[in-house]
Amino acid sequence: MGHFKTIIGHSPSLESIIRSAKMVAATDVTVLIKGETGTGKELFANAIQRESSRAGKPFICLNCAALSESLIESELFGHKKGAFTGAATNKTGLFEAADGGTVFLDEINSLPMTIQAKLLRVLESGECLAVGDTKVYRVNVRIIAATNADLNQQVRAGQFRRDLYYRLDVVPLELPPLTRRLEDLEHLINHFMAMVASTHGIASPSLSKSALAVLKNYPWPGNVRELRNLCERLSILLAGKVIEVEHLPSEFFSGVNNTSLEGFILPHEGLNLEQLEVELIQQALDRTNGNRSKSAKLLGLTRDTLLYRMQKHGFRDSGK
Ligand SMILES: Nc1ncnc2c1ncn2[C@@H]1O[C@H](COP(=O)(O)OP(=O)(O)O)[C@@H](O)[C@H]1O
Ligand SMILES: [Mg+2]
Repeated sequence: MGHFKTIIGHSPSLESIIRSAKMVAATDVTVLIKGETGTGKELFANAIQRESSRAGKPFICLNCAALSESLIESELFGHKKGAFTGAATNKTGLFEAADGGTVFLDEINSLPMTIQAKLLRVLESGECLAVGDTKVYRVNVRIIAATNADLNQQVRAGQFRRDLYYRLDVVPLELPPLTRRLEDLEHLINHFMAMVASTHGIASPSLSKSALAVLKNYPWPGNVRELRNLCERLSILLAGKVIEVEHLPSEFFSGVNNTSLEGFILPHEGLNLEQLEVELIQQALDRTNGNRSKSAKLLGLTRDTLLYRMQKHGFRDSGK
């Protein structure tokens, strides 16, 4: 099962998906990989195909969100010369090109309804019809699909065929967002930094405890892909050094301490709490144009408490 070794992480959720993926790889069933962008869907699709009995056969990927409806149809099924303006020659579709192998349909949630019907036919009978042709041909392909949207909800909204959904969802693999497997964060960071180091022949940086704490509090909208990009950038810029909080890009701080104090990171060198209070009161007053009640609300204080603290810190009372 060598190809699953490239998938890093020991969190229970990831390990259980790897177990399922290994079982799926040994069969020929259709696989639907669910998960937000950057969670590793393509990585899993690749590992499954390489461990499968179709490993030596073609593996063709198509991103269903990248093409228009008519282009997708001719990409998947091919077209006859003269089928439409610009169809100067016959074109082989990718199902035919992948015959005997595997087709990976990424972002299948974007597949137009008309093509959904044609895909269902491939799944049920292996039958394809090229654009502009009248004679069907048969293929033997395994389909692995990925979605970053909730297909079940799209079915309810009438945007995705229920019969196709059931046909695809034989063995669902659902990759959790990175924030739900934070125990893997350090492993992933070390893995990506070691990769950069060996590619470029430089020394890996190390990560300070406080910088790691900031990364653990970040929402990671781009999941593992975003983490990988960050690690690459930091590895190059800070080769062999210690990464401190201040080396992290600004998006790692915005909004951190607004809603919950859990996200607030005590800086490495400590801070002056009195001064921080003065600073925050000043910012609240500036933002509300000096309005005491609104400032108090921003700071989670009653108006009286705010007035008391302002007096304590020697704010000039020009009361609003
Ligand atoms: N568990 C993991 N271990 C190692 N690399 C990972 C892992 N998950 C994702 N990656 C890497 O993160 C990037 C994004 O993964 P990808 O499979 O393209 O995500 P998706 O298809 O879900 O958008 C790729 O470079 C991939 O190799
Ligand atoms: Mg992808």
